[in-house]
Amino acid sequence: MTSRPAPKSFHVKSFGCQMNVYDGARMGELLASEGLRQADADTAELIVLNTCHIREKAAEKVYSDIGRLAKRKTGKPMIAVAGCVAQAEGPEIARRARAVDVVVGPQAYHNLPRLVRDAAAGRFALDTDMPALSKFEALPKRRVQAPSAFLTVQEGCDKFCTYCVVPYTRGAEVSRPWAALIDEAGALIDGGAREITLLGQNVNAWRDGARGLHDLIEALALLPGLARIRYTTSHPTDMHDGLIAAHRDVEKLMPFLHLPVQAGSDRILKAMNRAHDVGAYLRLIDRVRAARPDIAVSGDYIVGFPGESDADFEATLDVVRAIGHAQAFSFRYSPRPGTPAATMDGQIEPHVADERLQRLQAPIAEQQMAFNRATVGKSCAVLIERSGKRPGQMLGKSPWGQSVLIDGGAIGDLIDVEIAAAGPLSLNGRVSALAMV
Ligand code: SAH
Ligand code: SF4
Ligand code: F3S
Repeated sequence: MTSRPAPKSFHVKSFGCQMNVYDGARMGELLASEGLRQADADTAELIVLNTCHIREKAAEKVYSDIGRLAKRKTGKPMIAVAGCVAQAEGPEIARRARAVDVVVGPQAYHNLPRLVRDAAAGRFALDTDMPALSKFEALPKRRVQAPSAFLTVQEGCDKFCTYCVVPYTRGAEVSRPWAALIDEAGALIDGGAREITLLGQNVNAWRDGARGLHDLIEALALLPGLARIRYTTSHPTDMHDGLIAAHRDVEKLMPFLHLPVQAGSDRILKAMNRAHDVGAYLRLIDRVRAARPDIAVSGDYIVGFPGESDADFEATLDVVRAIGHAQAFSFRYSPRPGTPAATMDGQIEPHVADERLQRLQAPIAEQQMAFNRATVGKSCAVLIERSGKRPGQMLGKSPWGQSVLIDGGAIGDLIDVEIAAAGPLSLNGRVSALAMV
C-alpha cells in the first residue's frame, strides 16, 4: 500500500441488525467530529462497510460490495470493513480483498480515526480487540437528530445458541452503566428524539447492580419530551416479572414484544441450546398478554436446523398457530463456521429447508395481515418519521410498530390517526387531531 491524502468525506453502509445501525450512526458521529463530511456512496473518500456475519448470505455481501467499490467510476475510496464480519474474518478479509484498507471490529471502532490515519500513511490497519474499557467512553456525545433513535444498553451474548455467531463476534454480555444511559437518552431527546428503542443482543439481561431493564424503562419514562420507549431483542429466559409488569404499568412503553422462540420442537430447542422449552415460551406469552392484552408479538424462527424432522417442523407450525404473531422473521438455517451446529449430524438438504421456509412464511403472512386488519377503524397515535413516496404523504409508526401512511403532519409529530385501511406491510390512516403529548 502507498500513502495518500487522508479522506475528507465518509459514507457508512450498515448491514444486519439494529445494533449495527446504531454502531454505524456512532461511527459517523465520530468521523464527523474529526472534521470529515458525510457524503454519498458514489463520492465519499472513505467508505465504511459495517457488516453482518449472522448468515452466509449476509457475510458474502461484503465481498461483492468491496469488488464494486474497487472499480468505482469516481475513483477507489479508502475502504474500511467494520462490524461482525470484520471481527470473525479480519485477517482473511485482508487476504481475500486487497482493496480493503482498514478492518475494525464492533468493540474497537472508537479507534477508527487512528486506523484511517494509518491507512492514509500506507499501512494496512486492523483492530479487532475487545478491550476491557468500553468504546462508549471514548466516543463523542450523541448528535442524532431524528424522532426515533436507538440506544444500545447491553452488548454481547453469553447464551451460545449452537447455530449463532454473535457470542463470538460481539463478545461476552456487558451492560452499560445506568448514568451513561440516562445521559445518552438526554442527548438523544435534546436532538429531537421522541422515541427511544433500547438495544441489546439480550436486552432484557441488562442490569446495573440490583436494577433491571424495567427500572431503566421506568426512569426513562419520566424524562420530559420522550413519548415512546421500545426495546429489542429479548431472550425468553431473561423475561422477568418486572419487565412483564412494565408492559401493564408504563404508558410510554409501547405494546410490542420481539421474543424469539426459534423452533416449536423441544428436541430441536435442546439441540439449539435455547435453555427454554415450548411450554415455557407459551406460558410467557400468556403472561405478557395478561399484562398488556393488545401487545403485538413478534418472533424469529429457524427452519432446517440439523436433525429437524417433518414432525419437528410441524411442531413449529403449531407454535406459530398457537401464538398469533403481529409479525415474525423466519430464516433457513445457515451453517456458520466455528459454531457447534455446523458440524452436527443430520444437516438438512437446502431444498427441504426452502420448502419448509415457504410453508412457515404462509401462516406468518396471514397472521400479520389479520393483525393489521384488526386495527382498521381504531384510533391510535402515530409518530411521523419521514416523508412518503407521494408529495404530502408522510410515514410513521403505530404503537404496535406498523408503518402508517398519512397525508399531513411533519417529521417528529405525534399525531392521532384513524386507521382507514390495512395492507400486508402497512396501514393507511386519516389524521384526526394533533395529539397533546
Ligand atoms: N440476540 C437475538 C438475535 C440474534 S440474530 C436473539 O437471540 O434473539 C437474529 C436471528 O437470526 C436469530 O433470532 C435467529 O433466528 C437468526 N439466526 C441466527 N443465527 C442463524 C443461523 N446460523 N442461521 C439462520 N438463522 C440464524
Ligand atoms: Fe445468538 Fe442465541 Fe445469543 Fe441470540 S441468544 S445472540 S440467537 S447466541
Ligand atoms: Fe449481524 Fe452482528 Fe448483528 S452478526 S445480526 S450485525 S450482531
